[in-house]
Amino acid sequence: MTALKIDRLRKVYTDTYSGEEVTAIDDVSFSVRKGEFVSVLGPSGCGKTTVLNIVAGFVRQSGGTVVVDGRPVDGPGPDRGVVFQSHALFPWKTVLGNVVFGLRMRKVPRAERNARGEEFLKLVGLEGFAHRYPHELSGGMQQRLGVARVLANEPAVMLMDEPFASIDAQTRRRLQEDLTGIFETRRPTVFFVTHDVDEAVFLSDRIVVLSRRPSRVREIVDVALPRPRRWQEAAELPEFRRIANRVNELLGDDEGAGAGAGAGDGGARGGEAGGEPDAA
Ligand SMILES: Nc1ncnc2c1ncn2[C@@H]1O[C@H](COP(=O)(O)OP(=O)(O)OP(=O)(O)O)[C@@H](O)[C@H]1O
Ligand SMILES: [Mg+2]
Repeated sequence: MTALKIDRLRKVYTDTYSGEEVTAIDDVSFSVRKGEFVSVLGPSGCGKTTVLNIVAGFVRQSGGTVVVDGRPVDGPGPDRGVVFQSHALFPWKTVLGNVVFGLRMRKVPRAERNARGEEFLKLVGLEGFAHRYPHELSGGMQQRLGVARVLANEPAVMLMDEPFASIDAQTRRRLQEDLTGIFETRRPTVFFVTHDVDEAVFLSDRIVVLSRRPSRVREIVDVALPRPRRWQEAAELPEFRRIANRVNELLGDDEGAGAGAGAGDGGARGGEAGGEPDAA
């Protein structure tokens, strides 16, 4: 079953400063199945956040359609939960208060919402912190709270835009494992934006690689790695490196070739694809 269908999406921004028109995304189509983890990867500025913001209903597209659970997107809604890069938590509410906020808005009775809130805090490893305040948590814990808050609402699609980008490398790995664990237990539908190739491979079932702006889908790469996944084992798998190399190659080709140049000669290349896309 399709949870999210993006069809021929196009976005032209008008620069408020120069008045110039900028085509951020030209023609982007892909779907996410229910219970699937799909990442969108592409060079900086290619329009990843734009796609996510259109799906979230924060930005209106110039063309094409987005359908979530059979309904065309027309503004934000509780069927899409967004995990923000900065935590966007309510500092005056307790940890539990933050998690159950959406349920309260939907008038779920207190006992039920608190029980559900506790359940999701446990899922993200924050049991025992229900009555603390966000400022008493570390950055990583706040990010997990952001995830719990979205999961508690059981949205049709969970949207995440580089949620771990501002977190130190070691904590990031742990959070990626936590997220994978949560995904493997609850099977939410996830649309994840990143420009970290290894992160995308580790987390995803499929990776949508976008071209440079004005972006199109370059290729959708299957990630047929076994689950449950842990960093230590996954990173050792030859298949993991093969997929990461393929994605790097797609990104690298794009940096070298001008937009629209006929890439994809399929010729064998020696060694790793260069051009760490992370440099930005
Ligand atoms: N509100 C806006 N007004 C005008 N141009 C915009 C606006 N938002 C984004 N853009 C432009 O659209 C393009 C895509 O931006 P977007 O933020 O979607 O890229 P991104 O792939 O998420 O980049 P990054 O990897 O750096 O996060 C960029 O050229 C950006 O300057
Ligand atoms: Mg972005």
